[in-house]
Amino acid sequence: MRGKGKLGSNWWSFGSKLGFPAVFLLCSFFFLAGFFGSTLLSQKEDVSGVRPTSRVLESVDEGGEFDPLPHGQTGENSITSIPYQILSWKPRALYFPNFATIEQCQGIVKMAKAHLAPSSLALREGETAENTKGIRTSSGMFISASEDKTGILDLIEEKIARATMIPRSHGEAFNVLRYEIGQRYNSHYDAFNPAEYGPQKSQRIASFLLYLSDVEEGGETMFPFENGWSMDLNYDYRKCVGLRVKPRRGDGLLFFSLFPNGTIDATSLHGSCPVMTGEKWVATKWIRDEIQDD
Ligand SMILES: *[C@@H]1O[C@H](CO)[C@@H](O)[C@H](O)[C@H]1NC(C)=O
Repeated sequence: MRGKGKLGSNWWSFGSKLGFPAVFLLCSFFFLAGFFGSTLLSQKEDVSGVRPTSRVLESVDEGGEFDPLPHGQTGENSITSIPYQILSWKPRALYFPNFATIEQCQGIVKMAKAHLAPSSLALREGETAENTKGIRTSSGMFISASEDKTGILDLIEEKIARATMIPRSHGEAFNVLRYEIGQRYNSHYDAFNPAEYGPQKSQRIASFLLYLSDVEEGGETMFPFENGWSMDLNYDYRKCVGLRVKPRRGDGLLFFSLFPNGTIDATSLHGSCPVMTGEKWVATKWIRDEIQDD
């Protein structure tokens, strides 16, 4: 008891000797020390999964050049090296910088322009074109690699197959989309839940998006449920939150809609934020678990 009182009075006299500004500085120092200490600790804790808040990207040096291995009988004659960055594990999303050349992107936009029509939706029970208006406001068209006489889509499709190691025969035709100012696509799944859409002959495993234009402002691909965020709330399917990928011409984005066990990954929910300035062009390749006979 006595000791406590003594300490208290010492502390106060210490304080009055130093004066208020010094005490204030001391307090600030301890506050900041505590703050940075806890930040450091919380970063250390996070070794396994996706970093909860920090968006600082680490560059991992993979050792640079490597000596190519001799390939097997069914390997490729040329060396294929396609750099990518892991964006997220929930959902499993990869980013491919400079996947296509500027000329290839321009070529795809040119061939699509002539055939654009308002994009449609796969409808659930009770849904009609009328009551789903506004969910998807882009224009688009489907084109298969074999229909493209320029040969660009053939090269892109082959490269997507190499990047995903899922054979070309599993891909749907390319869906080329244009979003103009204000146009959007509310968050949705690419996979079809049989409970909502009825039994499916085959299922979409993954989606590859090739950005064909830069967008000055808006138009990000968003994953609002990334890492399980926003999932329990009354999430507004138009809201641009979570992991957002800004379109950059020539870059690719791959994400998986299914877990390895074939069930739908709820965090693969995604949408397109409205374009604010500029125009967004994107080519989508949906990849299925069965060979597509188109
Ligand atoms: C499938 O895999 C996911 C992710 O690992 C898991 O959460 C889920 O429970 C699995 N579902 C079944 C039916 O095995």
